[in-house]
Amino acid sequence: MTVLVLGSANADLVVAVPRRPGGGETVLGGDTVVMPGGKGANTAVAAGRLGCDVALVGAVGPDRYGELLRASLAAAGVRTSRVRTSARPTGLAYITVTPDGENSIVVAPGANADVSVSDVDALAWDGVEVLVCSLEVPLDTVVHAVAAAASRGVRPVLNLSPVTPVPAATLALLDPLVVNEHEALELAGSFAGLLDLGPRSAVVTLGARGAAVVTPAGVVEVPAPAVRPVDTTGAGDAFAGALAAGLAAGRSLEAAAGYAARVAAVSVTRRGAQPSYPTPDEVPS
Ligand code: RIB
Ligand code: NA
Repeated sequence: MTVLVLGSANADLVVAVPRRPGGGETVLGGDTVVMPGGKGANTAVAAGRLGCDVALVGAVGPDRYGELLRASLAAAGVRTSRVRTSARPTGLAYITVTPDGENSIVVAPGANADVSVSDVDALAWDGVEVLVCSLEVPLDTVVHAVAAAASRGVRPVLNLSPVTPVPAATLALLDPLVVNEHEALELAGSFAGLLDLGPRSAVVTLGARGAAVVTPAGVVEVPAPAVRPVDTTGAGDAFAGALAAGLAAGRSLEAAAGYAARVAAVSVTRRGAQPSYPTPDEVPS
């Protein structure tokens, strides 16, 4: 395969709410919808649906949610031989979505907490061009995987989501570090300042405005098409998967980020994470 994704697989338990409850408050929502999610599985499915040869490194539990995830991955053409079945339950994400398409999420990691350094050591790297990681699996596993990739000439990409402190030695290997606008400003004060954290390049996702590509040559913004958002859940993961697919296909970072912004824009027009990701003919040019 050309892209390896290391990250979480969760069943998303999604409920539409008129507004988010505060502490001690109860709000009545719609019917619960169960959908395949998790930042790692989402990223892999986004790449797979775009026709990329991709494998997920992760873990699910011995339960029906694990089966749901395996089926969704397989339907998108993602290789699952490195998705381990652990003794812990499949990760769950409790997601509320408000009428503006915004979500808030509580994750119970379950099996994702078992994704380990030895899972990385068992990997075959032949033909792999890009490794994409996200942070709903243990940090030491991600640190190890990024180092293993870089030592083999594989391009490491880290989607810093959920935002987590990462060792400087890991940041220094990334090409790119992917963050959202809020995280970029919190981490570095400016987009260009992200390179002071050490990565070779950075990509800042800007939601409806597309993305900014940060390299030593400067900051270049790439636009996204205007869409009416229905559900932004997993849009960042769609972006990461499409970015990796674009890089593995030989696109420049700027071209891959532009492609990823268009893929993410399509994803927000449909409900859920994985079920909303487009095939190549659905991506506007
Ligand atoms: O990024 C979106 C994802 O975050 C959801 O699919 C949910 O599982 C959480 O991991
Ligand atoms: Na969506």
